[in-house]
Amino acid sequence: MKIGPVRLDNNLILAPLAGITNLPFRLLAKEAGCGLVYSEMISSNGLIHHSRRTEKLMDSVPREKPLSVQLFGASPHIMAEAAGIVESSGASILDINFGCSVKKIIKTGAGAALMRTPDIAEAVIKAVRGAVKIPLSIKIRSGWDRSGRQAFELARIAEDCGVDAIAVHPRTATQGFGGVADWSLIAAIKKRVSIPVMGNGDIVTCRDAVRMLETTGCDGVMIGRAAIGNPMIFSQVLSCMKNEPEQAIDLERRFALIHRFLDASIQYFGEDHACKMMRSRLGWFVKGLPLAKKFRESIKQVSSRDQAVDLIEQYREALINHSGV
Ligand SMILES: Cc1cc2nc3c(=O)[nH]c(=O)nc-3n(C[C@H](O)[C@H](O)[C@H](O)COP(=O)(O)O)c2cc1C
Repeated sequence: MKIGPVRLDNNLILAPLAGITNLPFRLLAKEAGCGLVYSEMISSNGLIHHSRRTEKLMDSVPREKPLSVQLFGASPHIMAEAAGIVESSGASILDINFGCSVKKIIKTGAGAALMRTPDIAEAVIKAVRGAVKIPLSIKIRSGWDRSGRQAFELARIAEDCGVDAIAVHPRTATQGFGGVADWSLIAAIKKRVSIPVMGNGDIVTCRDAVRMLETTGCDGVMIGRAAIGNPMIFSQVLSCMKNEPEQAIDLERRFALIHRFLDASIQYFGEDHACKMMRSRLGWFVKGLPLAKKFRESIKQVSSRDQAVDLIEQYREALINHSGV
């Protein structure tokens, strides 16, 4: 799969997830074989005002490339200026967020609110397209409240304005994350445009990813929530695509990943900040495992790497004893 001139190793994509897809997390997905990683959504306003916190969201390292950096905002000139900053940061691809349905963002006219205002959406796309040379993609929902119509219109506008790819999460803005994603809309958009379409929404297992590719004809699949607890899902999907038997994530692999995430987070954020983050984040990786609740409780006050490592190892041993391995 290619987005503009950027060729991806494969067509599996880590979705942008605010508060989650930071550099250490993206590296886990990349190690698992993910073909394209997305940053968290980044405020165009924050970027043009040189907010250090906002700029940090663009941090990257060569081994995670290609990286798509996602911007949100509703002002064409601010988005254009911010896009220039993203391009200068070395991002491989720039993505515009047309899907965020969080009130705070909608109120400013950005995210999914732009699907209600196609004129402004078009002005934003044109301004950004004119400001950068790197490939440009957009990520949309099915619409504001009437499934389909706004997505078709925005897809057409995007293609006409020189956008290189479209990611489609086929839920309306008012749906939030409720109900089910209407994959038929991904197929319908794929039929209407000639640029690559990334399908997104409700991929829970590796079989779902293969099914989305087969049933919608989309060019790539974008995985969000299922990757949070299991970034290894990308390697599972890759095996599944080769018709290999389903890869189980055994305890050793899972715990190796937890340790790598801890160390990468400490390296990136510093021990103090990373340990505070680990108090909730390590819990993601043990969802569904026996004694997970007890482990989550135990890490709530973690404040040093040594302590975190001890607690992780104690949990690993408890699991081995529990299952009698
Ligand atoms: C915690 C969380 C944060 C998200 N942040 C973003 C974001 O920053 N930008 C964006 O376009 N979508 C964001 N999304 C939406 C996801 O990218 C994705 O479209 C959605 O979760 C559906 O895919 P999934 O079923 O694979 O999770 C977020 C979703 C969640 C659950």
